[in-house]
Amino acid sequence: MERIVITHGPEETEEVGFGLAETVRDGDVVALVGELGAGKTTFVKGLARGLFVKDLVLSPSFLLARSYEGRIPFHHLDAYRIVDPDELSEVGLRGLLPPETGVTAVEWADRIPGLIPRGAVWVKLEHAGNDRRRITLRR
Ligand SMILES: Nc1ncnc2c1ncn2[C@@H]1O[C@H](COP(=O)(O)OP(=O)(O)O)[C@@H](O)[C@H]1O
Ligand SMILES: [Mg+2]
Repeated sequence: MERIVITHGPEETEEVGFGLAETVRDGDVVALVGELGAGKTTFVKGLARGLFVKDLVLSPSFLLARSYEGRIPFHHLDAYRIVDPDELSEVGLRGLLPPETGVTAVEWADRIPGLIPRGAVWVKLEHAGNDRRRITLRR
């Protein structure tokens, strides 16, 4: 199933993430793809808000991952700096992906394709003009 949405500013992208929260369940992985500045973190912000995540801090510039409490546990992983997926097991980040409990959002998911489970929701964000983004959601 594929859905394409054009957004006209960060608020709208956040709303698309917020809407997705209604459809995700424990164990789901939301795999985000798109270049720097495409809006992945903005989307995750909305998703987290939709999951009633508490104490959200989404600027983990030096952190690879972070977990939060919410309607269900919420994990945010940024694979940007991951060169070798084996690093994940070394740092223990595999614990953030199923079968661990919760919903996991993964930015730069295309860098660790082998770790993204079947059935993940793929979210591709692309620039589509000034302040516009084309968001393709696929499950
Ligand atoms: N339609 C839009 N959707 C999302 N972000 C947008 C949009 N238009 C402009 N922006 C801007 O683009 C940037 C996206 O940043 P961010 O979400 O951190 O991207 P990424 O995590 O993909 O690097 C923000 O500065 C945001 O204000
Ligand atoms: Mg980001």
